[in-house]
Amino acid sequence: MSADDAHERWRNSTGTLGDRSAYKRVWDRQARDFDVASLAVAGHTDEPTMDLTARGFIDTLRATVGLDRNDVVLEIGCGIGRVGKLLGGECLQWFGADISGGMLGHAAARLQGLPNTRLVELSTVGLQEFPEDAFDLVYCTIVFMHLYEWDRYRYVEEAFRVLRPGGRGYFDNYPLDSEHGWNVFTEGARYPIDRRPAHISMASTREELGIYLSKAGFEAVRVVDLPNQLIAATGRKPGQGARRRP
Ligand SMILES: C[S@@+](CC[C@H](N)C(=O)[O-])C[C@H]1O[C@@H](n2cnc3c(N)ncnc32)[C@H](O)[C@@H]1O
Repeated sequence: MSADDAHERWRNSTGTLGDRSAYKRVWDRQARDFDVASLAVAGHTDEPTMDLTARGFIDTLRATVGLDRNDVVLEIGCGIGRVGKLLGGECLQWFGADISGGMLGHAAARLQGLPNTRLVELSTVGLQEFPEDAFDLVYCTIVFMHLYEWDRYRYVEEAFRVLRPGGRGYFDNYPLDSEHGWNVFTEGARYPIDRRPAHISMASTREELGIYLSKAGFEAVRVVDLPNQLIAATGRKPGQGARRRP
């Protein structure tokens, strides 16, 4: 399939805004074939570019929340395992969780032969499949723009629960107050109301993300600008403690 065909199929694949909360259905539709799924999660279909952007994100994690070889790490909304394919080699264990079984099917194929990676399909919004205090680092990248605000907060609360005391959290989105974030906002506004796609990107304010982390109990909360048009909210679960088995 050509990149143009894949783009066209992606645009037509998700349903309208009224379906937005039906995350499983919306994202399984985008996972029907690998090219469409890659476009939906990464904006391109070729493996070298995917690796390059994953490497860039791992550098961002290092610079914002730190990364340690002994970390047990959870990605919320891991898609086709763009990041996990490389991050798996840099931590003790990498878990990828996603609401779309279709996306995880593609991830499983890409992560074949990486013994310290595991994929978990989420039954609904939340991390109910994981026990508390199980991870050193929980992150969520390029997902919040596709979620309603209540669901963004649910994942922040849930990340706090599954992090061990002293564990770190990372969440990103487009900021409404940047040129790019404002373009995302106005592009959405230009759609006829009944034709806005279910997965349409919705930016966050810096204040919103900071409030979520503080209300959930994180300390040392920061909201920082990243080089790639995103902002990231980061924080630490108070205390120090060992992790349990995830
Ligand atoms: C744009 S992709 C990003 C994938 C991955 N984080 C990356 O950076 O390559 C968004 C992902 O979020 C997942 N997703 C959408 N809604 C979700 C939800 N409510 N809970 C968990 N994952 C969700 C989708 O299935 C998709 O894999």
